Amino acid sequence: MRSVAALLIFAASSLAYSITGPNNITGWTTSGPNSITWTRVSTDPSNFTIVLDSHQGDPTSQQVLATGVDGSEGSMTVSPPSGGWVAGTGNRVNFVKDGGILAQSSPFNITAN
Ligand SMILES: *[C@@H]1O[C@H](CO)[C@@H](O)[C@H](O)[C@H]1NC(C)=O
Ligand SMILES: *[C@@H]1O[C@H](CO)[C@@H](O)[C@H](O)[C@H]1NC(C)=O
Ligand SMILES: *[C@@H]1O[C@H](CO)[C@@H](O)[C@H](O)[C@H]1NC(C)=O
Repeated sequence: MRSVAALLIFAASSLAYSITGPNNITGWTTSGPNSITWTRVSTDPSNFTIVLDSHQGDPTSQQVLATGVDGSEGSMTVSPPSGGWVAGTGNRVNFVKDGGILAQSSPFNITAN
């Protein structure tokens, strides 16, 4: 646990919300459960909306996964959107607040299983 704590302290010293998972190594699966982890600094907004962007730039492919998320939690497990998880590449998780993007994950795969 000690190395994890050290990592979190190091990450938190960088600017603002940073989504540490999912990423291009962990990815998500269609069966889940799928979780999101992040770090924040004290000046970040206290809450935000989590949006899954499954095709970069296409507004119709954006699905809200959670609203009013408490940023101090640092992680949460998200339920699948109404259509379920769809396998594919190039997915991103965005933290959105007042129409602006606070943070964006690196692109990741959702793998069928
Ligand atoms: C995964 O993401 C990291 C950080 O963004 C990047 O350096 C690395 O090249 C990526 N790997 C692949 C296989 O895309
Ligand atoms: C994501 O899926 C693409 C296409 O199937 C594959 O080339 C790539 O290696 C996958 N990335 C990871 C991290 O599994
Ligand atoms: C969410 O953040 C806003 C400021 O960005 C604040 O006014 C509001 O009280 C927060 N809501 C909750 C439930 O913490």
